[in-house]
Amino acid sequence: MLSVGAGAAYLERLLVHLGVNKDNIILADVEPKHLPDDFQIKIFDMFEEWPEFKDRQKFDLIIFPENPSINVHCHKYGEPEIQTFSSIFAKALQNLKLEGEIKMTGNPTGPEITEKVEQELRKAGYNVTVQNLHPTKESLIVVKNKTSPNTG
Ligand SMILES: C[S@@+](CC[C@H](N)C(=O)[O-])C[C@H]1O[C@@H](n2cnc3c(N)ncnc32)[C@H](O)[C@@H]1O
Repeated sequence: MLSVGAGAAYLERLLVHLGVNKDNIILADVEPKHLPDDFQIKIFDMFEEWPEFKDRQKFDLIIFPENPSINVHCHKYGEPEIQTFSSIFAKALQNLKLEGEIKMTGNPTGPEITEKVEQELRKAGYNVTVQNLHPTKESLIVVKNKTSPNTG
């Protein structure tokens, strides 16, 4: 699992406490000082080019837990929001396994946006579904990767 914008990693520490193998978690953040030093870490800005992971590893799950910088990054609703979500999810999809999932909290948005994000990603060759499971409460956007890029 890759956690982008992991910060102090309270969620990931809870997962380890509940039995998830720590070796299966990589924490990422743009700000090195936010990350703890007892996990595997990767420092990068999710809006820029993503680094390659060890052995070109791909992930079953990529999470963006309470990383509300999408709405801050694009400032406006509508088209800029669609482009920003599509671009971030495309970067994550490059690093996601077939049948993998992306989960993002902290960026509330409705079906009028998620449907268009799904269309954009499909145009780019990704066979995905994009849904916000809690659009009116705490936002939880889920992207499901059905097949590899450009394979149908
Ligand atoms: C509100 S904190 C959430 C921390 C943790 N995930 C949690 O749920 O408690 C947001 C984190 O996202 C990181 N972040 C903000 N912009 C980012 C970016 N462009 N790329 C990667 N991480 C970013 C921040 O440095 C911060 O650690």
